[in-house]
Order: sequence, then C-alpha cells, then structure tokens
Amino acid sequence: MIQSVEKTLNNKLLSIFNELNLDARFAVVKTSDRPDLSDYQCNGALALAKMMHQNPREIASKIVALLQKDADIAAVSVDGPGFINISLSNAFIAAQTDVMAQDSRLGIGKVEKPRQIVMDFGGPNVAKALHVGHLRSAVIGESLRRIEKFVGHHPVSDVHFGDWGTPMGMILAEIIRQDGNLEQTEKYDIEAISQFYKQANIRCKEDEAAKEEARRITAELQAGNALYRKAWQHLRDVSVAAVKAQYDVLGAHFDLWLGESDADKPSREVIEIAKQKGLSEVDDGATIIRLPQTNKPMPPVILVKSDGGIGYQVTDIATIKMRVDDLHAEEILYVVDKRQSLHFEQIFQVSEMLGIAPDVKLQHIGFGTVNGSDGKPFKTRDGGVMNLADLIEMSKDKVRRSMPKPNEVEGYGEKEIEALVTQIAIGAIKFQDLKNNIAAGYVFDLDDFANFEGKTGPYIQYAVARINSILRKAAAQGLVEGNIVLENADERALALKLAQIENAVFRAEADKEPSIIADYAYTLAQAFSGFYNTCPIMSAENKNLAAARLKLARLVRDALKLLLDLLGIEAPEVMLKASEEK
Ligand code: ARG
Repeated sequence: MIQSVEKTLNNKLLSIFNELNLDARFAVVKTSDRPDLSDYQCNGALALAKMMHQNPREIASKIVALLQKDADIAAVSVDGPGFINISLSNAFIAAQTDVMAQDSRLGIGKVEKPRQIVMDFGGPNVAKALHVGHLRSAVIGESLRRIEKFVGHHPVSDVHFGDWGTPMGMILAEIIRQDGNLEQTEKYDIEAISQFYKQANIRCKEDEAAKEEARRITAELQAGNALYRKAWQHLRDVSVAAVKAQYDVLGAHFDLWLGESDADKPSREVIEIAKQKGLSEVDDGATIIRLPQTNKPMPPVILVKSDGGIGYQVTDIATIKMRVDDLHAEEILYVVDKRQSLHFEQIFQVSEMLGIAPDVKLQHIGFGTVNGSDGKPFKTRDGGVMNLADLIEMSKDKVRRSMPKPNEVEGYGEKEIEALVTQIAIGAIKFQDLKNNIAAGYVFDLDDFANFEGKTGPYIQYAVARINSILRKAAAQGLVEGNIVLENADERALALKLAQIENAVFRAEADKEPSIIADYAYTLAQAFSGFYNTCPIMSAENKNLAAARLKLARLVRDALKLLLDLLGIEAPEVMLKASEEK
C-alpha cells in the first residue's frame, strides 16, 4: 500500500512508542514550525510528561535514541522543553516521492469508515435569479462535496429549492391581480415571473391586505388547491431550469433537485410527532414548539402559522427527517450564510427533541458575506442586489481584456478564447472566495482577483499551464522521467512540500475549510517557481538529473490539477496573455 511520508513517519513513531510502552495517541508528527531546523517535529513527549508526571526531555531522549537507529532519519534531536525535531534522509524522501509519482491519488489515502453525507448548499428560490448571496454557498459547497468524495465519503447534494413559502402565494396573487385568473400562467418565462415577484414584493410591503391574500393563497396551495398547484408547478419548472443553467456555469453539481415542497407530507408527520410527544402548543392560533432557554434567548419554532400555512422552519425539520429516512444520512451539512445560524440552531434542537435524526451529525457551515469595497454586502451601483450572472459577466469582461484578440494566437478563434475566458474568470471568482476562511466575509475585488501574480486562481492555473508546456517540450525532445534525485535545497524543499498534500486534503476535510487546500496549492506553486529558477530541466547538468526534475515537475502539475479540482476550478492546458499587457 502507498503511504505518505507523514504516515510512514507516524508508523515509525508508533512502533517506538509501543516499544517504550508510551501512550500511542501521541505518536504523531507535524511539519516543523522551524523548517530551518527540521522537516518534522513530534511534540508528544510534552503531553506524555504532563500525564505521567515525568520530565519531558527524558521521555523525548528515549524516543530519540530509538529514532537515531533508523536509516531513513538523517538527524533527530531533543530541543527546548522536549520537542523532538526530525529531519529525513534525502534517500528516503526521494524514494517516497518516487512511490507517490506512481499513484493516481498521489499517495493520498481514503477514510476507513465512509459516511453518507447529505449536503445542502443551494437554497435558490422560485422566481429569483441567483444573486451574489448564492455564490459562496455554491462555491464552498461544491468544493466540500468534492473533498468529501475524494477522501472516500459518500456525499449526496440536494439543492433544497425554496418553493413552498409565502413568495409562492405572492406571485400567484400578483398574476391573478394583473390577468384576472391563472389561465395564462404557463406562457410566462423566468423574466416575466421574476417581474411578477418584484411587483408583488412592493405591493405586499405597502399593503397589509395584499399580504393577507398572499398568505391565504399560500396556505391553500399547500393544502392542495389544484388550480394553484398547476400554476405553481410551472413557476417552479421555469425557475429550476433557470438556476440549473447558472449552477452549470459555476460547475456546482446537485444530485437531487428536491425542494421545500417535497417536505410537505413529512412536515405533517413532524407536526403530528410533536403533538404526540406533547412538545407543541397552540399560541395565538399558531402551533409552536418552545425551546429550552440557554444563556441566549431561543425563540420558539413555528410549526403551523395561524393561517394554517407551514413555513421555512418546519419544512427544514421535515427535510432532516426525509434525509435520514430515505437517504440514510449519517451527517447533514448545510453550507448557508452564517446570518441564518439561529434558524439552524433551532431546527437542530427540535429535531433532537423529536428524535427524528438519532446519531446523525447536523452541522451548519456558516459563511460570511461577499462585500463591496465599502465592506458592506456587495450591491449594484444603484444599491440593488447584485445578480450572479452580472457579476460573472463583469469578471469575464475583466479577464477578456488581458487575453489576446481572437485569431491573434494560432488555434484560438473567438470560441476558444471565450472558453478560456470563462475558465479563468470562474477560476478567479472561486479562488478569491475559497482562499478565505469560510466564516470570514471578504471584499470582492474586481481589480486584482484575476491577476496572474499573487494569491489568485489564475496564478495557479498559470503554474499548471507552464508545467504543461515544459512537459510538452521534454516529450518533443524525448526526455522521460527517471528516479528522483535530490541534490540541492530547492529540489528537496519541493519534494517535502509535495509530501504535505495528504495532510492538507485531510485537514481541509476535517475542518470543512477549502482555504487549507487553496493555501497549500498556492505555496506549492510558489515552491515550484523557486525550484524552477535554480533547477533547469532541459539544460540540467546530466541526463539523470533532468529526468528526475522532469518527474518532480510532472508531480507538481498533477498535484496542482488535483487541488484545483477539489476547489472546483478547471485547469486549462494552455494559458494565454495579451502581448501588449502591461
Ligand atoms: N432558500 C433559502 C434562502 O434563500 C436558503 C435555504 C438554505 N437551506 C436550508 N436547508 N435552509 O434563504
């Protein structure tokens, strides 16, 4: 079995710990905090000493004595209060890198116990185009979906379409008001439907009676009114088609296109369970569940509104039930704006009280907002909501300006240039998003987000394309990969950097933080740059060195492509730059 440097090292420690009768939980290394001193460090002796009331340096010395016998280890020492600093032999790193180069997963293992993970990261709504608020959900969600899958879990993504709330009644009421009935509804396209929704929104803000009417129609729709259902079905179909096209542009994949409406029947069951367990009560005509009060006030959850309609909270609770009963979810992840955290705390609590998801891990991965340069949520110039399609167009315009004109480069007509523009623009948008911690908001930067320099998507795409071109040249000259040789510091540093890939992927999975992968990809691309500056391939001193460096370059290319893929970013074979670019 292929094993990463780090796992191999952990195993070495493990047998030493066993031999010394030390608690095996502490037999782990991490990449060194002092790369100038060592490659890896183990801090286990400190923790053990505390537990065993012994001197940490003494424990560390015993471990070090045994490590010293290992030929794979070049140097090992006890430092400070009891840190163990470990440096690997070049032969060992080289051999491990050779092994990694043979594996399509680059030595990255899989989890022992795959879990069924339902992922909720869409949340689009009927009659509303995707806006900037939907960007992070799709981008982060898709990346996490790919990461979970790659490490061996079984993610099932569900778009969770917002198709059952009061906006449905608002749109239907507006159509009836303007047309007199719902007979023409099926003629309306997404623009027309969005227009009705906008008008309804304005009307319902000003007019309490209009709002009442919308609520009544929503409740009747939910109760099964056939006329309303037929018109609603059309609104839903048209909206689904529209957002599907946009998710395709973003490369976000949903296995399921269920909506809040699909939770209607289970919602009735949930309401029944609450009643039977004596957890619900009627309050002012509505059926509610009161939640235990902790240090922060928890508002009650509304199961049935006073008008008989069911809302966002109960459909979400019922959806948990469906995901457990039908999809056998062992874990449900919600990638949703962190401003909805109270909602998720409430529904998670209720699902626990009702016992509908025993032993299922429910997690809200709350993200911060995409902001404008003023630090407030991104808006259009006139203060409106920024459509996702507009944002993508703006980004593409920007990227297009840095591209050659169609047919300026052989083989790149308008179609090819546009395809490249899209790959770069989407890559830039996604990377700008994913390089940040999820919980932090970030400023959408239209000036630098697509630079070929700096911590950007295009920088990494460019690194891939540059290596592609090196590989093409090597192939043309008949150079083939050979065994890894580590003769200088840059080669060694690059190989060690490559050895961290598994750790980066698994940490990103554990922390649900694609930024760990974005960060690692960026530093790997930088390490390659450093390497390539001092270590030419085609003009290396001898053939063996050239062949070894070629393999390192190819490995970095494969690693970067894999990492970009885990971020949901495409890696074009070739990157172009406008010749007159300043
Ligand atoms: N449709 C919701 C909104 O626009 C987001 C849904 C998120 N997912 C969920 N299961 N609540 O705010």
